[in-house]
Amino acid sequence: MTDAAAVIVAARFAFDVAALLLWGAGVYIWLLVPAEIGLGLWRRLSALRLAAFAALLLAVAVTLPSRTALLGEGWSSVADFALVRSLLWSTNIGAAWLVQAALACAFALFVLARRDSPAVTALMAAAFLASTALTGHAAAYEGWLRTLHQANAVMHLLSAGAWVGSLVPLLLVLPMLGSRATAAGAAVALTRFSTMGHVAVALVLVSGSINTVLIVGGLPTDMGSAYQVLLIAKIAIVGAMVALAVVNRYLLVPRLRLWIGAPKALVAGTLAELVLAAGAVALVSWFGMLPPTP
Ligand code: HEM
Repeated sequence: MTDAAAVIVAARFAFDVAALLLWGAGVYIWLLVPAEIGLGLWRRLSALRLAAFAALLLAVAVTLPSRTALLGEGWSSVADFALVRSLLWSTNIGAAWLVQAALACAFALFVLARRDSPAVTALMAAAFLASTALTGHAAAYEGWLRTLHQANAVMHLLSAGAWVGSLVPLLLVLPMLGSRATAAGAAVALTRFSTMGHVAVALVLVSGSINTVLIVGGLPTDMGSAYQVLLIAKIAIVGAMVALAVVNRYLLVPRLRLWIGAPKALVAGTLAELVLAAGAVALVSWFGMLPPTP
């Protein structure tokens, strides 16, 4: 892998993790967490939100020069303005980058004006996630199949983000169950997370399967294809995440008042889901750049 390609994979990872987090945490606190605890939660996430916002800006900033270097003769091509112009105006990569650069400017204005509420942040992050469907394998087809694939790719990212992005504020909600002042609001937030979680997990599995069939043309069984081997690894990681989510929801949550160790075990299980999700995104940040079949 050239270093330009390595920079692109790292930028895709930072972009996806930041946008999945801001979308998932924002939409959960905006629509599902009771207001009496939601605003406090959002404030407690301000440092993490700022770091995610900075990661998004950095990922967008390095994407254009590294894509130019990959298309051209290495980093020296970054100064080839004719190449940059043709990349920007006549490729899907350029179209996606222009949308992301415009979104980054708009988001920066909201953040600077301290108008980055959960709703604004969720909608901006959703637009960033949707912009990835303008390029890559989701844009490989023509006509209605392209539209279907792009719509499915957006559904995949929004459902994946709703699941894993909301795990972060959930980690702050869980200890609130033990305090008289916040227990009622936290219990509602936990119940609503569980309901949303079932829908999000079902949608991410269905949309992931559709992505796989549209890109690979069937089940990923060709061990000679790095893309398919890494996709299988991602599916295995997601399988472990689903198993963890089932243990969290059906073994630990019902025992929160019965077993003294349950709250700690639930926090550990939620953290483990997050670490696995980062692994899944790292894998797709890499294999999304590879040809699906050898
Ligand atoms: C928590 C679960 C999951 C997360 C966080 C996740 C995350 C992602 C992300 C971030 C992308 C887009 C990468 C990009 O283009 O920038 C993606 C694409 C994809 N995902 Fe998932 N995914 C999950 C579950 C699944 C499952 C269960 C499957 C398979 C059944 C799957 C199959 C795919 C495929 C085939 C793509 C397209 C990659 C490409 O562009 O070639 N994903 N996923």
